Formats: sequence, C-alpha cells, structure tokens
Amino acid sequence: MSVKIGNIDLGEFPLLLAPMEDVSDPPFRYVCKQGGADLMYTEFISSEGLIRDAAKSRQKLDIFEYERPIGIQIFGSDIESMREATEIATLAGPDIMDINYGCPVKNVACRGAGSALLQDIDKMVKMTEAVVKATHLPVTVKTRLGWDDNTKNVEEVAERLQDIGIQALTIHGRTRAQLYKGEADWTLIREIKRNPRIKIPVFGNGDVDSVEKAAAWRMEYEVDGIMIGRAAIGYPWIFREVKHFFKTGEHLPGPTLDERIVACRTHLDKSIEWKGPKLGVFEMRRHYANYFKGLPDFKSYRMMLVKEENITVIHQILDEVAEKYENVLPFSEMA
Ligand SMILES: Cc1cc2nc3c(=O)[nH]c(=O)nc-3n(C[C@H](O)[C@H](O)[C@H](O)COP(=O)(O)O)c2cc1C
Repeated sequence: MSVKIGNIDLGEFPLLLAPMEDVSDPPFRYVCKQGGADLMYTEFISSEGLIRDAAKSRQKLDIFEYERPIGIQIFGSDIESMREATEIATLAGPDIMDINYGCPVKNVACRGAGSALLQDIDKMVKMTEAVVKATHLPVTVKTRLGWDDNTKNVEEVAERLQDIGIQALTIHGRTRAQLYKGEADWTLIREIKRNPRIKIPVFGNGDVDSVEKAAAWRMEYEVDGIMIGRAAIGYPWIFREVKHFFKTGEHLPGPTLDERIVACRTHLDKSIEWKGPKLGVFEMRRHYANYFKGLPDFKSYRMMLVKEENITVIHQILDEVAEKYENVLPFSEMA
C-alpha cells in the first residue's frame, strides 16, 4: 500500500532523507535525490531568523523543482514566531512544512526550542496547531522518544499532534538526554504503530546504516518508512540499495570508483552553482573524505582537495584519484 502525506503519494515504504544542519543543503539533496530518496527535508531553519529576514535563514529556503516532494523544517520556541515563520516558509513553495521537536543541542533545546518542547506538551500542541492553521500544506513533525529515560512521552505526542492535524510523524529512537550516544531503540515506535488510534504514517529514524538493518527493522518495528541521515553522507547510494533489496531480495553491488567520483563532482558542481565559486568550493571541503571512505592512503589527496581553490585543479586531482585507484578492489569488497 502506498504511503500518503496529504495528496503526496510516496509509494510503498518510502525512504526519507533526514534534515541535517549544514549537510542537507540543495547540492547534497541533489545527489541524494539521484540516489533514490523519496522525500527530502531542508535542514532546520530558525523561525526567528526567518522573521528577522536573516540572509542565512532565508537562503535555507531555496528549493528546486527536481527535489519534489520536499519539506521545509522550522524550529523555534515562540508560538507566534512559528506561525509567522510558517507563512514565510510556505511562500517558498515546498510540498510539506515540518516542525523540529527533536534537536538536542544546547543552544536550541536550552532556549526552549527543538526537543525542549518534549517537556511541555501543551505548548507543543498549541505551537503545532498554530503551524497547521498558518499553512495550506500538510504539516509533519520530527521528534524523539522523550526528554530522558523517565519521560518517554512520544506516544502522547503522537496522539495529540495527530488530533490537531499533523499528517505524518518521524521518530528518532533516542531521548534528548541521549544526544547521539548509545543505540537507537525503536521499540516505542512499534508501540505507536500498534496503537489503533494512530492513523498517520509513522517513520522510524536512527542508526539505519545498511541494507540489512533497514530490512530487519522494517519487519521488526512495523514502521511505514525509514528516514536515513548520517549513512547517506558520502553514500547517497544507500537509498537505491535498500530499495533494490526490498524489491528483489538481492544486494546491488556497491558504487564503483567511477560512480563515486561522478557523485563527488556533481556535488561540487551543484555546490558552486548554488553558492558561487568561492563559497561553493569551500563548503564542499567537508564532503571529500566521505565519498572516498575506505580508499587506502587517501589522506594526501584529501589534503590537496581541501586546500585547493581552483575548480579546474580540483577536477584534475579527482582525475588523479581515478587513475591511482582504478585497480583497487570495489568498495563493497574492501574490508
Ligand atoms: C550533522 C547533523 C545535523 C542534524 N541536523 C538536524 C536538523 O537540522 N533537523 C533535525 O530534525 N534533525 C537533525 N539531525 C538529526 C538527524 O535528522 C537524525 O535524526 C539523526 O542523525 C539520526 O538518524 P541517522 O542515525 O540516520 O543519522 C542532525 C543530525 C546530524 C548528524
């Protein structure tokens, strides 16, 4: 059965690209879309920033036709600001508006935004209601299991937010207190899926980093789809690999060196297209190592790539990488 958010048909068991600050920008989303992501989100955008017209926040609203369906994620601590930010973000033309109630980092959570709302569900409900009323778009929410081990209240969150009109919920199987430590636990996510009151799609998130895990957790936790974050960084093929496995029960071979180089060049080109030659080259620097993980003695190339400012020379270095490693085993066969 197809999973739907409002009128958006995501097909059977969609794979979502997680919102990630400083990562999920248009260049990264381009390669993930090519890799097979079914639904993508922007990184979170500050409601206050949008209202102040801060250039940095505004730029995060950039979305492109080929990215659809795409959601814009916002966060904040003030209900009126979230309402206003929803109106501003809706004008950018996304398919979905998403609210972040999961961010654990201090300067977000300690200012009453992100996961802090898990400590005040009444306020969370009011905030969500304000967002739902401020847009004609479907609203989705991303959150965690609860604030800490003693307050895992995501089931109450799911019921109450569904009642006021959210159309899908993604749950990261950790508490705020856990940050990113320990293992994600999806047990509670399954309980929500089994709750007969819950009708909206529920997506599982946290620690899915292989085809095997995606397949096992799909069965074990009964979710409607999976959101993948860190495992897609430098490896956008994860989406097509998981989908292929679901469809055929067989493993696709991993990307070849050439495919890695092509994806890396595409990411660089898109980065330059979006941010201009200077900033585009600079922002790409954090990604090189991820595309070539596992290549022996890659460090010297990485050092060259992250220092180089000339785009032609960067492509020449990538040519050298292609030549030097052409006879190295395919990545999937490396230990
Ligand atoms: C670098 C980084 C930035 C993140 N930024 C956001 C964000 O802007 N909004 C959000 O909802 N979650 C954010 N997250 C959390 C991810 O969306 C996701 O919930 C988390 O990484 C667990 O999924 P994974 O194990 O598949 O990576 C971020 C995570 C990382 C690693």
